[in-house]
Amino acid sequence: MCFGRTFAELKQTAEATGADSVAALQEHAVFGQRCALCHPYVRRMLRTGETVFHEIVTVEDE
Ligand code: FES
Repeated sequence: MCFGRTFAELKQTAEATGADSVAALQEHAVFGQRCALCHPYVRRMLRTGETVFHEIVTVEDE
């Protein structure tokens, strides 16, 4: 969750718009403009479709 948006909501937006990166998705939804900790999660969501994460995901995991 970031800026009140869930990963499931962001996934729906990505599917509806074809956005395939954090930057592309940010053109359609307000998120990710503060700590950026959500960016690796959003990138994994875009890669795999996952919207529920049971572990910490960082840039080192990519
Ligand atoms: S969780 Fe998205 S900017 Fe901080």
